Amino acid sequence: MIYLKTPEDIEKMRAACMLVSRTLGEIAKWVTPGVTTHKIDSIAREFISDNGGRAACLGYGGFPGAVCCEVNEVVVHGFPSNYSLREGDIIGTDVVVELDGFHGDMCYTFPVGEITDEVYNLCRTTKESLYVGIEACKEGHRLGDISNAIQTYCEKRGYSVVREMCGHGIGKKMHESPEVPNYGRRGTGPIIRNGMCLAIEPMINLGSKNIIIEKDGWTCRTRDRKPSAHYEHTIAVIDGKAEILTSFEPVYEVIQDRFI
Ligand code: MF3
Ligand code: CO
Repeated sequence: MIYLKTPEDIEKMRAACMLVSRTLGEIAKWVTPGVTTHKIDSIAREFISDNGGRAACLGYGGFPGAVCCEVNEVVVHGFPSNYSLREGDIIGTDVVVELDGFHGDMCYTFPVGEITDEVYNLCRTTKESLYVGIEACKEGHRLGDISNAIQTYCEKRGYSVVREMCGHGIGKKMHESPEVPNYGRRGTGPIIRNGMCLAIEPMINLGSKNIIIEKDGWTCRTRDRKPSAHYEHTIAVIDGKAEILTSFEPVYEVIQDRFI
């Protein structure tokens, strides 16, 4: 069942998305060599609760953090830990906030200090593919059009698309119908309607598309241990096209010269 949102619902989605965007801006201040992913998690936790929200990942299916910490080969769902970030790492921080009964979900992959051109290009392409997917999200078109746009953009540039993990509908629940895969065929899948809210989140690998889930039951990493990048926005379909409810602006205000 796909829940279409009313304009009132979308106003609440907007507020949740603004809070999660500001949370990513706080995280951006801490992404630097020597900082542990635990520290990043606690900064986000505090910021979200200080602003009246709930860190929705915390306790979700037993997940132990407010922030999924995706260092280098981790694709998604990494636990915050005592790992200290190192120069040359990348870290995806994926955060979900619930505010006033609605959820905002987003992810940004940060460079830690200087990173190689190869990894920089992976991140840039992944982020660009997110916007290409969003562009393909139009009323009356199909979900598969979004999926295909992302897949085509990334594969043309030599990267591979993780199959097992998808974007999703979002609203009163973090994960709602439909699934939004990052690969697929045009003209397939559910028809896109005004009022749909979706979390679109390409997860793109430098090497092969294969992943494994670690023994902790959560941490998803590339099988070949090559890096993976992940960017995510929450969007709403309004007046026929996707409006991005989350924003990377608070991140850009912080990272400036390290802009990917
Ligand atoms: N954006 C992630 C997802 O949609 C957030 C997961 S939170 C967790 O899967 F608690 F499940 F880790
Ligand atoms: Co998500």
